[in-house]
Amino acid sequence: METIKKKITYGSTQTPNNRASYAQKVIAISSGKGGVGKSTVAANFAVGLAQKGLRVGLLDADIYGPSIPRLFGVENERLAWNNDNKMIPSENFGVKLMSVGLTTPQNDTPLVWRSSVAVSALIQFLEDVAWGELDYMIIDMPPGTGDVQLTMAQEIPLFGAILVTTPQMLATDDVSRAIMMFKETHVPILGLVENMSYFIAPDTNAHYDIFGSGGAKHLCENYDVPLLTQIPLTCKMCENSDEGKMAIIFGEIEIQKSYKEMIEKILKK
Ligand SMILES: Nc1ncnc2c1ncn2[C@@H]1O[C@H](COP(=O)(O)OP(=O)(O)OP(=O)(O)O)[C@@H](O)[C@H]1O
Ligand SMILES: [Mg+2]
Repeated sequence: METIKKKITYGSTQTPNNRASYAQKVIAISSGKGGVGKSTVAANFAVGLAQKGLRVGLLDADIYGPSIPRLFGVENERLAWNNDNKMIPSENFGVKLMSVGLTTPQNDTPLVWRSSVAVSALIQFLEDVAWGELDYMIIDMPPGTGDVQLTMAQEIPLFGAILVTTPQMLATDDVSRAIMMFKETHVPILGLVENMSYFIAPDTNAHYDIFGSGGAKHLCENYDVPLLTQIPLTCKMCENSDEGKMAIIFGEIEIQKSYKEMIEKILKK
């Protein structure tokens, strides 16, 4: 008797699979560097698009350090399944969300998985979540240039990547590597976001370049990629993030403006 084997076909970065055909455009928010604000930028960008009336999904691809549930204030929600055996995404600020953080028994349950298991979980999030039709799917990437970045480039035809950096050279060095990775994997780079560009003192409103200045501008010139926006560092932004208050709605006017600038530039592409 002939045995039937299920064939798994992995895409290549030149001809990727399309595991997110329900989304018109898929954009990855990435950086070579950790802690520069990828998740914060991904969350506010997604909410800004939803405020324009677009249908938006946000996939937290950071399996080992999922931040999206807290940023959206849904960290106490737990995964549910619908009658078609699809995972029901959480939703807040008009954005549909899926994160491994919503699937663990408790918020502090660590995931001690080999990367092959992490990658399978992400493929399941692409295929087995009831996303519905989306105009934009935003992917919050983990730091670095590894398995997850490569898998996404192989499994979805990405509309592009947005790279987040701070002005500091320690960050821009890592971001240079991320730029080269996306170039090599045929993912268009939509532009660079310089986060924590300068600090706005809450008492005097004075601006301080605490991480230096000009880092993103220098990268943009070197690699010929556009600078989408420069987002200041503020005390309120930090508090808002912990409380699930989106900066693009509740933040200082400078923060709101810088996000809106980025969104307008992306919508024109
Ligand atoms: N513009 C800003 N002003 C103040 N705090 C900020 C700003 N951007 C990000 N933060 C804070 O910096 C920290 C790191 O941000 P975030 O988690 O978004 O970075 P990340 O690049 O996603 O990190 P990781 O590499 O761990 O995924 C968070 O505590 C966040 O609230
Ligand atoms: Mg993050």
